[in-house]
Amino acid sequence: MSVPVLIHLLRERLAWHSQPRVPEPDLVMESVAQTTSFSAAGETNGALAFLYLYNALQITSLLQPGDSVLDLACGPAHQLAQIASLNLGVQFIGVDASAAMLACAQQNLARAQVENVALVQGDMTRLVGQTDGSMDCVMCTMSLHHLPDQAALRAALQEIRRVLKPQGRLYLVDFGRLKLRSTQHFFAHDLQQSVQFTEDYFNSLQAAFSVEELTAAVALLGPDVQRHATVLAPLMVVFRTAFRRSVDRQALLRAKVAFASLSAKQQDDFRGLAQWFRLSGYALPCDLEAG
Ligand SMILES: C[S@@+](CC[C@H](N)C(=O)[O-])C[C@H]1O[C@@H](n2cnc3c(N)ncnc32)[C@H](O)[C@@H]1O
Repeated sequence: MSVPVLIHLLRERLAWHSQPRVPEPDLVMESVAQTTSFSAAGETNGALAFLYLYNALQITSLLQPGDSVLDLACGPAHQLAQIASLNLGVQFIGVDASAAMLACAQQNLARAQVENVALVQGDMTRLVGQTDGSMDCVMCTMSLHHLPDQAALRAALQEIRRVLKPQGRLYLVDFGRLKLRSTQHFFAHDLQQSVQFTEDYFNSLQAAFSVEELTAAVALLGPDVQRHATVLAPLMVVFRTAFRRSVDRQALLRAKVAFASLSAKQQDDFRGLAQWFRLSGYALPCDLEAG
């Protein structure tokens, strides 16, 4: 962890007061500028590539062949493409409220030659068309903060509970609300992608729900959900069910190829995130750099 990061984390830790939440100015991402810049960040060497690989490995530990998985607010589907290519025997459905995002997602999935993903336009707080108890797993990455308020957050969690099978699995990851604007500003500028991306990322950090708000909503899903947050300050928070299996050989080989194709900066960011979570006791299910 770099010295500037550590300084910001310690300031967060010591801060008494927390800035209030500022909801996203654009809840559903429809503008061309936003979809283009967000999608670019998910390309092989975009600023979010390391995060998608990290989440894909964690989610893989929840899945088995034959599963049906729902990805809420899938955006440009880079996360979905990554996880679907590691889990070819699993069927995924990506839902997003934005037609523009879904058009972008369709192109990205075709380019990645991913065939086990279907896309549907819909609202994660009202999953019309998804039947009760039909999903083996529900995932949602970096999107809950796009909901307008805690009532909408609870509605999304109620829908997750409704569509999950009994013993269904869960993986939710999002930003936790940082206390200080200066920390939000620091992290927004840390991932260098484009001016538009930095602005959107700063808005996202301001719109993040607090860990307590997320925890209260996720409690609707019962006691089997574990919470993990990056140590010292919750830049990221994961709510998930327990590991189900280790990452199999084929998936591990593909993940190693994906890791090797990342730039040195992205590989460092991957290691940094893994270490930041590991310090709170949350480890990866496999080691991509082991021989
Ligand atoms: C920051 S993006 C994250 C996309 C993706 N999950 C990822 O990790 O790359 C947030 C997405 O949430 C979508 N969104 C916002 N509100 C939504 C809602 N109520 N239902 C479904 N999608 C929504 C936006 O259109 C946008 O595509």
